[in-house]
Amino acid sequence: MGQVLVIANQKGGVGKTTTALNLGAVLTELGKDILLVDLDPQGGLTFHCGHEPDELKLTIYNALQNEDMTNEIILETNFGPDLIPANVDLAVSEMELMNTVARERRLTAILNPIRNNYDLIIIDGQPSLGLLTLNAMTAANQVIIPISCEYLALRGVDGLMKMIKKVQGQLNSNLKVNGVLPTMFDRRTNHTEWALKQIRDRFEPKIKVYNHIIYRSIRFAEAAEAQEPIIHYAKNIPGADGYRNLARELIKNNEI
Ligand SMILES: Nc1ncnc2c1ncn2[C@@H]1O[C@H](COP(=O)(O)OP(=O)(O)O)[C@@H](O)[C@H]1O
Ligand SMILES: [Mg+2]
Repeated sequence: MGQVLVIANQKGGVGKTTTALNLGAVLTELGKDILLVDLDPQGGLTFHCGHEPDELKLTIYNALQNEDMTNEIILETNFGPDLIPANVDLAVSEMELMNTVARERRLTAILNPIRNNYDLIIIDGQPSLGLLTLNAMTAANQVIIPISCEYLALRGVDGLMKMIKKVQGQLNSNLKVNGVLPTMFDRRTNHTEWALKQIRDRFEPKIKVYNHIIYRSIRFAEAAEAQEPIIHYAKNIPGADGYRNLARELIKNNEI
C-alpha cells in the first residue's frame, strides 16, 4: 500500500501548508510519485500549487460527497505532484459529514482506491481538531507535526496528542507519529532557542524532534505568493535545505 502522511497542528501559521508543498516538491525531484491533498477550506495549498481556489468547480468537497468523482477532481501542478484541491466549499463538508454514515472514514474512501498510484500522499490538515482532521488521521499511517519556535509554541499541543492517541486506539491502529518539525526558527532572537528547547523537552525521547529545523525566512511568504516551492524560488536558503534534509530522512527511514 502507498504511504499516507498528514501534516497536522491545530494552530494556524505554523508551516503546515509550506511543509506539505515543499516536502512534495523535494520528493518529486528525488523521483517519487506524490499526491498532495488540500484539506483546509482556506485552499492555501491549492493556491500555492498554482490554482485559484475560488475558480474551481470541482474540489475535494465533491469527492467527499461521492468518491467516484475522485479521478475527475485531481489536478496537475507545475512542479510535479498531483493535487486534490480545496476551496471554501469544504467548510460545508464538516457540517454535512456530521450526519453521514462512517463519517470519519470519508477521506479513507477517497484515497484507498488511488493509494497505490503514488509513493506518498501528503495531506495538508486544517487548523482545527474537527471532523476533517479526524478524517485525515483515519486515512493516514504517518503524522508530522510542525511547531513554530515561538512563545506559546506548545499551546494546544496536548489536545492534538490526545486526538492522535484516540485515533490510534479506536479508528486506526496503523497511525504513527514520524516526528515533530520545528519551524520558523529565527537565529536573531534569543527566545527561539528557548522555544526549541521547550519543544524538545516536551516530546523527546518518546517522539522524535527533527534535527532539520526550518529557519525563518521572508522568502517563504514570497514563494507562496509566487506560487512556487521554496526549493525553486530560493533554493539556497537554509529553509530550503531543511526541507531537502527532511525528505531524505523520510526516505532513509523507509517512511516512503
Ligand atoms: N520557515 C518560514 N519562515 C518564514 N515564513 C514562513 C515559513 N514557513 C512558512 N512561512 C509563511 O508563514 C505563513 C504561514 O505558513 P503556512 O505554511 O501557511 O502555515 P499553516 O498551514 O500552518 O497555517 C505563510 O505566509 C508562509 O509563507
Ligand atoms: Mg495551511
